[in-house]
Amino acid sequence: MDSYSHRRLGARKKVLFADLPPAVVELGSGAGASMRYLEPGSRLVAIEPNPHTHDALRRNAARYGIDLEIRDDPAESTGLPSASVDAVISTLVLCTVEDPAASLAEVRRILRPGGRFVFIEHVGSGSGPIRAVQRLLRRPWRYVFDGCCLDRDTASSIAAAGFADVRIEPFRFGGVFVPVWPQISGVAVA
Ligand SMILES: C[S@@+](CC[C@H](N)C(=O)[O-])C[C@H]1O[C@@H](n2cnc3c(N)ncnc32)[C@H](O)[C@@H]1O
Repeated sequence: MDSYSHRRLGARKKVLFADLPPAVVELGSGAGASMRYLEPGSRLVAIEPNPHTHDALRRNAARYGIDLEIRDDPAESTGLPSASVDAVISTLVLCTVEDPAASLAEVRRILRPGGRFVFIEHVGSGSGPIRAVQRLLRRPWRYVFDGCCLDRDTASSIAAAGFADVRIEPFRFGGVFVPVWPQISGVAVA
């Protein structure tokens, strides 16, 4: 999945992550698919409650020269101090967290004023055949992909989370996984 994600999202991640500060918090880091886009020497605090991903995270941190701290807290309650972070990143995570609104409130809480939340997320389709496919596959998809919800309106959740400035760009993921074609990327400033 790492190389597939790299092929489909790599160019976008390069642009979005180009000017991140040297210390970053990441929600749901998984196996570390975003590490190759961080500057070598960057510090990454990975908020990743799934212990089965931690060995891969450490391997990728060594490979890409990342100074890694893993926290097994959930995105909804990271345990990090308020207003202590310059940037939070998240790729394909708000589809899976238990409570997206609480996770976004937590992102705002830990960001310093002016700090950035940089994201790429797949979202529910507003209409048309992809919406029908998402509705049809919602339950089995959630079962197979570890709680992943196909139909979340994550753009509205981010817009409603109280950030000072929000820029969201919808785009099409493409490829074989049609239910996750509708995606958004962007930056929300605390
Ligand atoms: C689809 S994977 C995405 C992984 C990685 N960000 C990527 O782009 O490949 C979703 C990740 O979110 C993590 N996750 C699930 N619930 C979470 C929560 N409440 N807080 C933080 N991470 C969570 C999962 O363990 C998983 O690693």
